Amino acid sequence: MLKGTFPIEKFKLLQTPFYYYDVALLKETLNVVKTEADKYNYHIHYAVKANANHRILSIIAEHDLGADCVSGGEIQASLDAGIPSCKIVFAGVGKADWEIRLGLDNDIFCFNVESAAELKIINDLAAAKGKIASIALRINPEVDAHTHAKITTGMKENKFGINLGQLNCVIDDLLQLKHVKLIGIHFHIGSQITDLSSFQNLAIRTNEIQEDLEARGLQIQHVNFGGGLGIDYYHPNHLPIPAFDNYFAVIHKLLKVRPRQQIHFEPGRSIVAQCGSLISQVLYVKEGETKNFAILDAGFTELIRPAMYDAYHRIENISSDEKPEIYDVVGPICESSDVFGKDIELNKAHRGDYLALRSAGAYGEIMASQYNCRKLPSSYFSDTL
Ligand code: LLP
Repeated sequence: MLKGTFPIEKFKLLQTPFYYYDVALLKETLNVVKTEADKYNYHIHYAVKANANHRILSIIAEHDLGADCVSGGEIQASLDAGIPSCKIVFAGVGKADWEIRLGLDNDIFCFNVESAAELKIINDLAAAKGKIASIALRINPEVDAHTHAKITTGMKENKFGINLGQLNCVIDDLLQLKHVKLIGIHFHIGSQITDLSSFQNLAIRTNEIQEDLEARGLQIQHVNFGGGLGIDYYHPNHLPIPAFDNYFAVIHKLLKVRPRQQIHFEPGRSIVAQCGSLISQVLYVKEGETKNFAILDAGFTELIRPAMYDAYHRIENISSDEKPEIYDVVGPICESSDVFGKDIELNKAHRGDYLALRSAGAYGEIMASQYNCRKLPSSYFSDTL
């Protein structure tokens, strides 16, 4: 969306802060990811953790994507939005019994299992229901994602996944269990990955792992590459749809796919980030001794990424055309980490101006909290506003 295309007159009827979603961009992004994935017959499970807003999930369901869930709540939200259970995968290091039962009752496509201990519990719970759970082993491939430390997961000694050195033992255990069936292997090396060489390395490592498994007589039907494709937070208007073509091509070029094998992906951020903006109003402009502060009515309760990961979100004053000035853009929360950006150039700001914090569709609304007894943000959509 180009600056200036936000419907400010309509925003004036609403209470800020709120999330605003560009539905046309979301649909276009979904069409592109589907078209590019279909070229190789790749299967896409949207990572619900990025944004579980019911309307967003319903649009994703209409575009025929599956879901990657990490909780019973996400499984339920996906089903409620119309995503069929046969397209749901369930990952996470700490699946509670009721969550596993929910997955079993709905005959979900696959449990992505992260430890030997979990495997045993899924087996027991499936046995109690007289079912056989389809599972994929989440393997820690020891591939560096070159991303922020808090969102990298594929290296050794991480809480996620099964270490390569322990894989054979876990498979020995698995083969003894009667109520789980190994159908696949699963990886996820991290998030906001912009260097495609990490995915190249993952494809190469996958080939090696598959050869080892085949040497044990195991045929793997499904390979799941997780998510992780990054987006351009600095230029949300320029190429707002990530280069899914290059991403899939990199994997396709290097991965040795076996006959009848299916390849799966779990993108989250790359699908929903660019379609969402957090809309906030300036409450006060505080003129300090050395700097000016634009104090907003949104804080890290609505968008925690800057405080939590030092993440950059582009901030635009969509009310003003006046000459830019430099501000620290901060929220109202009683914590000094409640800062959206320091030394940010904004068109001269006044009380009441509307600001858009861009690229906030992923890990924005879903990570909102009620700290300081604040209300959770509302959401509005370009096609229904
Ligand atoms: N699959 C698995 C197993 C995951 O753990 C994740 C994200 C994804 C898929 C989706 O990854 P994506 O395509 O969105 O990169 N809150 C952080 C991001 C945490 C990502 C956690 N796992 C942030 O705001 O940057």
